[in-house]
Amino acid sequence: MDVLREVAVRVATRAAEHVRRRRPEVFGCEPIEGDGAVQSKSTPTDPVTIVDTETESVLRDLLARLRPQDAILGEEEGSENDSLDGARWVLDPIDGTVNFMYGIPAYAVSVAVQIDGVSVAGAVVDVARELVYSAALGRGATVERADGTQEQLHCSGVTDVSMTLLATGFGYGSGRRAVQGAIISELLPQVRDIRRIGSAALDLCMVASGVVDAHFEHGLSPWDWAAGGLIAAEAGATVRLPAADSTSAQGAVTVAAAPGVSNAFLAVLRSAGALDPIPG
Ligand code: IPD
Ligand code: CA
Repeated sequence: MDVLREVAVRVATRAAEHVRRRRPEVFGCEPIEGDGAVQSKSTPTDPVTIVDTETESVLRDLLARLRPQDAILGEEEGSENDSLDGARWVLDPIDGTVNFMYGIPAYAVSVAVQIDGVSVAGAVVDVARELVYSAALGRGATVERADGTQEQLHCSGVTDVSMTLLATGFGYGSGRRAVQGAIISELLPQVRDIRRIGSAALDLCMVASGVVDAHFEHGLSPWDWAAGGLIAAEAGATVRLPAADSTSAQGAVTVAAAPGVSNAFLAVLRSAGALDPIPG
């Protein structure tokens, strides 16, 4: 596991350097530039930039050299087959692409390796803040800063749902968003407050580091949660993940919560209907 974690950290860090260098080259001070730098995917509001595509190639090239025998699933290029058997790297070259485009400093490179569909090591690099979160199954989770200092990650000690700072996110389709909005209107009066940061991988790392107390979102894809879900769990969070072979369209919920509120928070989610999937 330690070797796999080192590989995850190494390739995610290199990819994050690429993202950091390319942003001013591609976008400068303007939020969105033409010339084919941005295209849309599932809906007109679901973007992919030239830097997402390049960065996935950076990750794939490095992994081909370091782990030639392993399979790869990446957000932009998919996978060669659907098998979950053996070792498979799950890549999000930029999680938080909308933030990346607009220059909001909350976007990340996410790299996990799963064995038979279970994440065993992963790294999430907060590109703008130069934070490297990582974990290996059973070995805990850490964050390393740009100055080389490292810290073990622990969830917050919150014990009261009404004092829970809750991070969430919304899908790109308006049908799912309408249901998500209705759920949020039920939850908002019951928690301390809500944050929509714009990167699920960072939301999960923020649960791990106690910066927020809980996270939930419907319709995440494996590359959104594969590394961050492990990091949160290894930091002590109670985590519920979609199945490894699930797709965003199935709309399963991802939940991570500090241990002192997890039971009560899950009960609140259940009574709001938020543990059911929102297909879309
Ligand atoms: C998105 C972000 C966002 C979440 C969306 C994801 P992307 O990933 O994680 O926070 O709310 O559901 O799709 O598109 O920036 O890779
Ligand atoms: Ca992405």
